[in-house]
Amino acid sequence: MLEFQNVTFQYAEDDYQMMKDLSFQVEEGAFVSIIGASGCGKSTIFRLINGLEQPQSGQIFYDGKPISSLSHFSAYMPQKDLLFPWRTVGQNLALPLEIGRVPKAEQQQKVRAMLKEVGLSDYENRYPKELSGGMRQRAAFARTLLTGSRLLLLDEPFSALDSLTKIALQQWLLQEWEKYRQTVLFVTHDVEEAIFLSDRVLVVYDRPITHLEAYPIPLPHPRNREDLKRPDMQELKEKLIKELGGGSL
Ligand SMILES: Nc1ncnc2c1ncn2[C@@H]1O[C@H](COP(=O)(O)OP(=O)(O)OP(=O)(O)O)[C@@H](O)[C@H]1O
Ligand SMILES: [Mg+2]
Repeated sequence: MLEFQNVTFQYAEDDYQMMKDLSFQVEEGAFVSIIGASGCGKSTIFRLINGLEQPQSGQIFYDGKPISSLSHFSAYMPQKDLLFPWRTVGQNLALPLEIGRVPKAEQQQKVRAMLKEVGLSDYENRYPKELSGGMRQRAAFARTLLTGSRLLLLDEPFSALDSLTKIALQQWLLQEWEKYRQTVLFVTHDVEEAIFLSDRVLVVYDRPITHLEAYPIPLPHPRNREDLKRPDMQELKEKLIKELGGGSL
């Protein structure tokens, strides 16, 4: 379980607080999305979890331990896929294993199994520039999984994709999650995407962020896009879009 306890944070360059006394919890194995306006601090929440930034006060716990005492408990997939262009797809996937000093033969075995899992077996020796946007995101996701972390921080992984690829990858991601049940924190601008994927949607309304408003998504698994047509889901979608300031110029 991940827990923010009264976290207050401000970037040194900024003259305003980003979050103040923010507390929230994400239970083990949950799929939780965070939505909110651009610049409201969603990526900053991830930067605090993975230790790129430190809170001025308050603490973040994972499994009851302060995160400053832990390493490799979370895997961060940033907004840009950040595959290394000079490495093949296979070499990109091997990176977390290299860092973890996994023996070479085992690396290769794990990378090949993961490439198969994400449907990229034929691309092991290709370079990222030879892949489509959707394939690159699957490769970046595969690399994130190979860190072995049980907490995945996915920052708008599908936002740069065309809508059909995006829908296909949402379904694919849900299947992966239903199989492995890692804890997923997922940032998106897309209200429908958040509803379709999540157990719970957390909405950022205020600045500084003092709380995250939680909306449970009572859809059963496995999910189907048809579920989005349910009147209660339609209603929630319209409500969230309106509250986030959408639909007006
Ligand atoms: N490294 C940094 N140093 C100083 N200020 C930063 C830094 N990173 C982000 N900020 C500021 O903090 C605020 C929140 O940024 P953040 O990236 O967390 O927003 P976001 O909600 O992820 O936005 P988006 O939806 O556009 O990705 C912004 O106003 C941004 O200018
Ligand atoms: Mg961001």
